[in-house]
Amino acid sequence: MIDIHCHILPGLDDGSPSIEQSLQMARMAVQDGISTIVATPHHANGKYDNEAHKIHTSAASLSAVLKKNNIPLQILSGQELRVTSELISNLEAGAVLTLNESRYLLIEFPSHGIPSYTKEIIHELQVAQITPVIAHPERNKEMAETPAKLYELIELGALCQLTSHSITGLFGPTIRKHSLEMCRRNWIHFVASDAHNATNRPFALKEAYNQIDKEIGSMYSSYYLANAQALIENKVIPIHSEPIPVKKKWYQLWS
Ligand SMILES: [Fe+2]
Repeated sequence: MIDIHCHILPGLDDGSPSIEQSLQMARMAVQDGISTIVATPHHANGKYDNEAHKIHTSAASLSAVLKKNNIPLQILSGQELRVTSELISNLEAGAVLTLNESRYLLIEFPSHGIPSYTKEIIHELQVAQITPVIAHPERNKEMAETPAKLYELIELGALCQLTSHSITGLFGPTIRKHSLEMCRRNWIHFVASDAHNATNRPFALKEAYNQIDKEIGSMYSSYYLANAQALIENKVIPIHSEPIPVKKKWYQLWS
């Protein structure tokens, strides 16, 4: 498996605090069946700044330590970039890093809302031939309360990445139901761990895929698995089924 969103690089953000913890995470990832991780430290989120060159250096250094310790895990460079009004100028300044230097950029929103300029940014990214991948939309309050707003972004060409623990239930039954509903509506293109450490938020990627198989069918998990591979190879992510719009709030769908 390929994990396209993970905070395994030591000391850069709220992920792994040390090389020892990164090694522990790497061993857990291999045990979970993960062969490749795109390391995605936070950037420009108001607390952490990790420009492209810093991430490349850290990823190369972790890769060397993994090799020395005979841990069969490939580390690629990426970034989890906060959506701010400066995003495009950051891109022009060379501070932004796409996932494995592909056309795909992992973007995160503030947990409570969707900035008013988001549609313009998505448009600007596409003009720059970059496809945004929205990190864990299932955990954004405004997207959960008004899913039609997220649907608009998907219609504009944004892709979506669900977090494994949203499926396995770590964030509670409401987010779990919401996540599965998003899968059924063809709003999701990737599942990733967003693992931050080896203790309270490890990978659970295999378990998430197993639960997706069981709940909604293997055609979904096969699609997500293939998309992660296509992403790191900078290939086109196929849209097998059109996203299904929703007019109601999520909780109304379940009642
Ligand atoms: Fe993350």
